[in-house]
Amino acid sequence: MTTAVGHPNIALVKYWGKQPGAGNVPATPSLSITLDALSTYTRVALRAGDGDEVRLNGRLVADAKALGFLARMRAAFDLPPIVVHTRNDFPTGAGLASSASGFAALVAAVDGAFGLGLSPAVRSVWARKGSASAARSIFGGFATLEAGDGEWSAASLLDKNSWPLEVAIALTSQDAKPVPSTIGMERSRNTSPFYRGWIESAPADFDIVRRAVLARDFETLAEVAEHSCLKLHALMLSTRPGLLYWNQATLACIEVIRKLRTAGVPAFFTVDAGPQVKAVCAPGRVEEVAAALATVPGVLRVVKSRLGDGTCLVGDADG
Ligand code: DP6
Repeated sequence: MTTAVGHPNIALVKYWGKQPGAGNVPATPSLSITLDALSTYTRVALRAGDGDEVRLNGRLVADAKALGFLARMRAAFDLPPIVVHTRNDFPTGAGLASSASGFAALVAAVDGAFGLGLSPAVRSVWARKGSASAARSIFGGFATLEAGDGEWSAASLLDKNSWPLEVAIALTSQDAKPVPSTIGMERSRNTSPFYRGWIESAPADFDIVRRAVLARDFETLAEVAEHSCLKLHALMLSTRPGLLYWNQATLACIEVIRKLRTAGVPAFFTVDAGPQVKAVCAPGRVEEVAAALATVPGVLRVVKSRLGDGTCLVGDADG
């Protein structure tokens, strides 16, 4: 038995929308940071009898996405029936990228358990087929997800020590999101009058942020990452029926982070398909930002994180 540990990532240039057709191929490039403080542990074992089984945090779950994904891996690699034991040390499906860490860890666990010998790039392609953001969690530090040699795969842009940004995550709800990302983004593609503008403008955002990361240019990164985030939420709001993932505390946290930056604190916000707010901070500045977020009404907890490693295998005792 082999246990893989994967971490969620948060996108600084967001992915929302797929190319038509099969394969779960994003319509736009994205760029993310992998987080150290949150983890998914996944172990696979042989299962007697037919069919696979998925156990999340100890409970049997009917996870059609994971089961369908395992069927595709089986078709490619001739796998036996397996039981997947997966555990998150953070809320699942609540806008904390549990599907990213989950699929990245699942691919790594299957690869390790059956000795498939997949390279990180190939693991990333497989993780993308499960959940596109998962492709990025194969890598630590800063990762990009864009078209490679014929396949969309993530790649490492910068390792975690080269620019050790820190993140304060303000948890404002433990609930699962009302509309899963996969459904929401398809709805946006089909109904939002802003979708075309989103697709057309994303590559320029990606290029600017990519360069800003390589230049360690925090101001430019902050400005364009917040723009990508707010543009994503404008797209969501303009979808029919509208996708509103925020609550009152989400907005209050955004206001606090904006005020901090105006006062000279190097921090910017980002929000995904859920009400949690992540404040990305320059190295050494997370404490003061986390302290400010902890005072916001409606914030349940603030988790502080450094940048994390890519998905890897660990001893079974950790699983
Ligand atoms: C808002 O990767 O969960 O977090 O590919 O359909 O599984 P699927 O979607 P998913 O969407 C992530 C959306 C996002 C932005 C991002 O991570 O880039």
